[in-house]
Amino acid sequence: MSIMSPCPFRFAIRMPSDHKPNQLTQSLRHIRSQGHEILDLTVSNPTRCGLERPDPSSILDALKDTKSLTYAPVSKGDATARAGIADYYLRRGYTVDPDDLVLTSSTSEAYSMVFRLLCDPYDRILLASPTYPLIHELAELNDIKTDTFPIRWISPHWRNELPAIPASIRPTTRAIVCVSPNNPTGSVLSDADYQHISGYCADHSLALIVDEVFADYPLDPSSRVPSSVSNSGCLTFTLNGLSKVLALPQAKLSWIHVSGPDHLKVKALEHLEHMADHYLSPNAFTINAMPAWFRHSADFQTPILRRLRNNLQYLSSIDQRGFRLLRPDAGWYACLQVLCPPGSTQTDESICLHLLENYHTLVHPGFFFDFETPGILVLSLLTPEESFARGVSNLLQSIASLL
Ligand SMILES: Cc1ncc(COP(=O)(O)O)c(C=O)c1O
Repeated sequence: MSIMSPCPFRFAIRMPSDHKPNQLTQSLRHIRSQGHEILDLTVSNPTRCGLERPDPSSILDALKDTKSLTYAPVSKGDATARAGIADYYLRRGYTVDPDDLVLTSSTSEAYSMVFRLLCDPYDRILLASPTYPLIHELAELNDIKTDTFPIRWISPHWRNELPAIPASIRPTTRAIVCVSPNNPTGSVLSDADYQHISGYCADHSLALIVDEVFADYPLDPSSRVPSSVSNSGCLTFTLNGLSKVLALPQAKLSWIHVSGPDHLKVKALEHLEHMADHYLSPNAFTINAMPAWFRHSADFQTPILRRLRNNLQYLSSIDQRGFRLLRPDAGWYACLQVLCPPGSTQTDESICLHLLENYHTLVHPGFFFDFETPGILVLSLLTPEESFARGVSNLLQSIASLL
């Protein structure tokens, strides 16, 4: 009898090799452990940044719908809730068929479902970059590879470099992913951009995935953010949800809207419904409360818009010595470029560490988002105004002492 030595236990290779916190996080923990307060200019949780909110009873009473006491699962999500989402789009000026919607418990889950719908293991998606870092991680969890095409600052706007797309397409590329408004650049795809990408996708049998969670937050009151829900030239998946639309991330309710040529759209919806049926993840209490919550959408969004615009106005008004504001068109973030003198060895990470260690002020370094431009810092416009102004003042002093 041969004694086989057992193979050592191993986890799947899609798991990261370690979960060690990066240097900024380590430094943050150390400073907090010493009892120091941090001036946090990265806040993105809308329920914890001192915003005026609708009356709590208008949120909580909606959860008391007796319909929720019966379990009546529907794979794509309850029809009344989907009709409520269609009404939300109507208010934005778009006609949406509730049957073209599939509910999910988060936008992250929506990404995963669409990735699994479109990609075999090791297929690729093309991301407009810099962008929300979680997309890359979600792709990895789904055994998908990512390539990128650039979003560049072409004063006075950030622009998706659409002509750069063809050079990054490979035989195994299945989809192009755009976040519009983008996190963190705040760049927005125009109707003409959608036509351009859509034509390219249709010609090359690619799908288009658009994350529009920040669409309700244009920073110029006179502008609007176009939606991809009306995109019919190629198979298009529009992702959105309550975490930003109603600033209720804890509600855990999002959706996928499918548009495009009929034969593809119908099949895609059948497949998504099939997948959704395996998880049935959105919960009935939230689903049934959503139509009532939507009636208060202005009460959720108006204080946020006011804060975003106040902070952006403040940034635009200060003396831009040592940095320049790369103005966002929409969304919750603003990027600053620190103007390092020639020969400087400072990086966005070293600038953030200096600010954190000497001024106890936290901003995101650009490398978190894969910026190709050096010296980019990302600030959350959701930060309470008074903290934002103090944090920016610390930042200016920190830059002046460092450079
Ligand atoms: C661009 C973008 N998409 C999606 C999400 C997450 O949405 P959800 O909470 O619905 O998963 C975020 C969160 O900040 C985001 O920035």
